[in-house]
Amino acid sequence: MEAIQGEAIRLSDVWVAYSGSGRPAIREINLKIDYNSLILITGPNGAGKTTLIETCLGLLKPIRGEVFLLGVNTKSRKIIKVRRKCSYVPQDFMKPPYESYTAKHVIKLGLATDMCLFGLSDLEIKRRILNVAKMLQIEDLLDRPIGTLSGGQQQKVYIARALVREPKVLFLDEPFSSIDEESRYVIAKVIHEYVHQKKACALVVSHDVDPIIDLSDIIVHMDNGKITNVEVN
Ligand SMILES: Nc1ncnc2c1ncn2[C@@H]1O[C@H](COP(=O)(O)OP(=O)(O)O)[C@@H](O)[C@H]1O
Ligand SMILES: [Mg+2]
Repeated sequence: MEAIQGEAIRLSDVWVAYSGSGRPAIREINLKIDYNSLILITGPNGAGKTTLIETCLGLLKPIRGEVFLLGVNTKSRKIIKVRRKCSYVPQDFMKPPYESYTAKHVIKLGLATDMCLFGLSDLEIKRRILNVAKMLQIEDLLDRPIGTLSGGQQQKVYIARALVREPKVLFLDEPFSSIDEESRYVIAKVIHEYVHQKKACALVVSHDVDPIIDLSDIIVHMDNGKITNVEVN
């Protein structure tokens, strides 16, 4: 099977199993995701949501079927380069209280990983950091050590770090867990605006669908390793 241009992600009859586990964690997954779309993946604990994200990124390889990310098969060596055009904020990505990096440092790290810095002036780096900080309403937190921020504030900093690189695909795993309602709304709105402004694509995993469900283009329901329903908003 070939990838089709214009598709951000394609999975065709994908099965993934963890080594040592007798049962596949996800199976029979067929999904096609275009640019300019926000996808919500929801379902109970153990449904296979995190496994699906890591399979899209090529961090887990299918035992059956094929996965294309930005047109490249995740089994190809080129996937390492392709991954640099994506951002991933894993589940429960919180720093311990003694972490001394400031929020600004953490956001700037988003630019360091893939040598973006070579092409960017100091002024441009500052402009980008300030821009994402404004969007997420964390400008006044930029000089605070990350460990002194609340869960919701930290989550916004990690999302800022993911966005500052201007990824083609943004993967967020449970970005709303244990954060207040107002922060959830800000994060959902920022993701929605980013995706449509940049013609990018976001895959957001959340067992808790409110309020992002209203801003999502496609809602994928998973249970017991399978996609049980796909709704188009
Ligand atoms: N590292 C692992 N090793 C073995 N089994 C795993 C591992 N991670 C997840 N699983 C299993 O895979 C299934 C899907 O898990 P996961 O993708 O984490 O679900 P979700 O993110 O929807 O809660 C579950 O049955 C889980 O126990
Ligand atoms: Mg999970």
